[in-house]
Amino acid sequence: MKLLAPSILSADFSQLSQQIRLIEMGGADIIHCDIMDGRFVPNISFGTPVVKAVRKSTKLPIDVHLMIKDPDNYIEAFRNAGADYISVHQEEVVHLNRTINYIRDLGAKAGVVINPSTPVESLTEILEYIDYVLIMSVNPGYGGQIFIESTFRRVAKLAKMRDDYDLEFLIEVDGGIDKSNIQKLSKAGCDMFVIGSSIVKSDNITASTVELKNLIKI
Ligand code: DX5
Ligand code: ZN
Repeated sequence: MKLLAPSILSADFSQLSQQIRLIEMGGADIIHCDIMDGRFVPNISFGTPVVKAVRKSTKLPIDVHLMIKDPDNYIEAFRNAGADYISVHQEEVVHLNRTINYIRDLGAKAGVVINPSTPVESLTEILEYIDYVLIMSVNPGYGGQIFIESTFRRVAKLAKMRDDYDLEFLIEVDGGIDKSNIQKLSKAGCDMFVIGSSIVKSDNITASTVELKNLIKI
């Protein structure tokens, strides 16, 4: 199952619910929310009030990507705001099994995110406990960055680990995805595609969503 998860990070926030409607009309499966605190990453984005606004604007599942220090302190608030999927960075969380259990106990799907320089092999011991892995294809912090090519190899390696261990977690990729790389990414094993600028910065949000969704159906 291939899922398109447009990110609202680069959306026009003065027209947020309208833009979400356009994304929805294009066949998006999930709405991705990038939470940045200016500490784990150098930029600040938005918090629970915006996630609540997204919740009121759509019935689609909401995927919250926490790029923040001490995520355990905020997980419940994001779940209450409407998050259905919650991911935390492996580089930030020391007691990862505990955090994953916490997210699942709150009734959300639990994911672990790795930065481009973190080896996929470092996830070996957690894979059987999680619902998805988010592989960053840019260094987190900003929308509109260039896709890092080693991502293809990393996704393929993780997909092989999934087969070898007979597991079912989903593989999500985030950053710099557009129509030039999305098919290759899909073939490498990506299941969930996070796309910001290529959708919300395009001239026709619905048409771009449709086009990208068609490209992942292999
Ligand atoms: C980076 C963010 C993004 C973003 C995707 O920290 O996680 O990667 O939502 O945006 P684009 O598609 O513009 O790279
Ligand atoms: Zn993200």
